[in-house]
Amino acid sequence: MTFPTHRPRRLRRSEALRGFVRETRLSKEGLVYPMFACPGTKVRTEVSSMPGIYQQSPDRIVEECREVADLGIPAVILFGLPEHKDETGSEAADPSAAVQRSIDAIRKAKLDLLVITDVCLCEYTSHGHCGVIEAGGVVLNDPSIALLADAALSHARAGADIVAPSDMMDGRVAAIRSKLDANSFQDIAILSYAAKYCSAFYGPFREAAQSAPQFGDRRSYQMDPANAREALREVALDLEEGADIIMVKPALSYLDIIQRVRERFDVPVAAYNVSAEFSMVKAAAQKGWIEEQRIVLEILTSIQRAGASIVLTYHAKDVARWLKNC
Ligand code: PBG
Repeated sequence: MTFPTHRPRRLRRSEALRGFVRETRLSKEGLVYPMFACPGTKVRTEVSSMPGIYQQSPDRIVEECREVADLGIPAVILFGLPEHKDETGSEAADPSAAVQRSIDAIRKAKLDLLVITDVCLCEYTSHGHCGVIEAGGVVLNDPSIALLADAALSHARAGADIVAPSDMMDGRVAAIRSKLDANSFQDIAILSYAAKYCSAFYGPFREAAQSAPQFGDRRSYQMDPANAREALREVALDLEEGADIIMVKPALSYLDIIQRVRERFDVPVAAYNVSAEFSMVKAAAQKGWIEEQRIVLEILTSIQRAGASIVLTYHAKDVARWLKNC
């Protein structure tokens, strides 16, 4: 039986009815706000391609974290800019580097905030790759995972709740898990960037984190955008190695991947609404071409609807404000 018995419009007649039958209720409970920590004090430099996003010294990071916590956003993810870059990215594991000092300051301020740290070498290496290289420019896997584990341990020591490896080296989740466990950090969780694609949507981030590769690209370690089944294998491997939460990145061009991962695996799924996804919206909004608020809420609803209960997004503060006023 169909029309006139069935009329889907019956349930769209009022906001009360629409709200009553809504399948996805956008919430700020799974939002994560990304932040960029740099050396020094009293530093706050806006990233030119990311309006409203700053490189900040630890004292300023804490100030913004207080605002984030007051808005009811549960978590931040910290990226770090080093004082000095070198071939092996040694500052990634330095207890006095910007990320470690920021975590310490957030802990001292006793903010009600989960602190996640991005674990990678690209911001710290002079060549800008996510692992160490040998002559000829090959990114070496096994020596890199030992360094990544050292960085993760230093974040845990500084007080991070969750470490998030984003390098895409094979075996890094297992290396990090065993390093943390051997140092009595068995309760620190791992959020792995499991299906991370080699994407042009990271462009503005590389300005923010000063992490553009100085030669070549990241195709030998990040995934080919054409592959979906391979993402399921990457996720399965990271879970076997001990990942607690897995992530798909970027989000918008990969909603199909988010959905397939959600259906296949019973673990929390995160998605990263990355820098160019943010900057494109900001640029079009500044030109008056789109309605920023509606666009952002629609984007975040689509990412949650696809299956990501955790969303890393530079829009987090705006969304939290809008949801409060709704
Ligand atoms: C580090 C890293 C990148 C992003 C998060 N972690 C960049 C890259 O892989 O080049 C991108 C985040 C964004 O674009 O917002 N490896």
